[in-house]
Amino acid sequence: MSLLIVDSIKKYFPMKSSFGKPQNWVKAVDGVSFKVNKDSVFAVVGESGCGKSTVARLILKLLSLTDGRIFFKGEDILSIKGEELKKFRRSVQIVFQDPFASLNPRMRVVDTLSEPFKIHRIAAKHQIKDRVVGLLEKVGLGADALNKYPHEFSGGQRQRICIARALTVSPELIVADEPLSALDVSIQAQILNLLQDIKKETAISIVFISHDLKVVHYLSDEVAVMYLGKIVETGETEELFKSPKHPYTKLLLASAPKIRVKGQGLRVKSEESGDVPSPITIPNGCPFHPRCPERMDICDKTVPELKESGGRLVSCHLY
Ligand SMILES: Nc1ncnc2c1ncn2[C@@H]1O[C@H](COP(=O)(O)OP(=O)(O)O)[C@@H](O)[C@H]1O
Ligand code: SF4
Ligand SMILES: [Mg+2]
Repeated sequence: MSLLIVDSIKKYFPMKSSFGKPQNWVKAVDGVSFKVNKDSVFAVVGESGCGKSTVARLILKLLSLTDGRIFFKGEDILSIKGEELKKFRRSVQIVFQDPFASLNPRMRVVDTLSEPFKIHRIAAKHQIKDRVVGLLEKVGLGADALNKYPHEFSGGQRQRICIARALTVSPELIVADEPLSALDVSIQAQILNLLQDIKKETAISIVFISHDLKVVHYLSDEVAVMYLGKIVETGETEELFKSPKHPYTKLLLASAPKIRVKGQGLRVKSEESGDVPSPITIPNGCPFHPRCPERMDICDKTVPELKESGGRLVSCHLY
């Protein structure tokens, strides 16, 4: 059984409408499906604005669905309430992009990491400190971190603390939303190695969200490539990297990052492609057609369905 099943989920955000005009929607996520197995890493990749963080927030039950369903361990997360919801909140943890914003600046590390033990009553009071030190060691920090405040650490160290905090409650799933994007390039590899260790040493599944395909290749078992709120290609990581099928996947693989805005992910521009279109005015037919080097006559008329092609799902009229 899959740990997580995401079934045709949609999230439309209402836009400010002026009187008398029809309501417009930002189709941030528009019919996304995937499964995450136990003990595996599932990557979601795509440019800034394609809906990745919205998918993350939907999985974590931080946003309500417009449509579709999400199952965690076979249970529809919509119906999880009371004690079960508490358990769900423990089992599914998030690591955010910005380790600066996600730690309370007035709390010492020991307090930040002790809190979940107390809230969820996981350890006896006298055991908590040892558990916290154990976690710090696991993420490559020592006991000397205990009494320090977030501002005394570098970005990479703070992200280690955030990862330690996610691990306090022994989760079954960690959703990591671009956990490397706010960090200096030299630090990214270290955090990536830490996630790799967690993958190897625990049975925790990870939904790893990224705009960086190199990173995804290294860490994930399966990949879904998103474009304007939809998955355009998904499959086993090695296979997808060996022979990308969708022209957008090929573009992502071929492009060196052209513009890298710290903390905002990546936007790829190809010579003929122009800007990334917005989810408010999605092009007719294949949403990728204005940028596609392989487009055909049918492409601006008919929406391609996501269908199986050589052991993988692809939405493109070429297949
Ligand atoms: N709360 C919101 N209200 C309105 N629009 C939103 C909201 N959250 C996200 N969006 C829009 O949804 C789209 C997808 O955003 P997001 O999921 O953050 O993308 P990504 O994480 O891939 O960069 C963007 O166009 C974004 O502006
Ligand atoms: S459907 Fe057409 S425009 Fe869309 S990716 Fe395939 S070839 Fe390109
Ligand atoms: Mg995001």
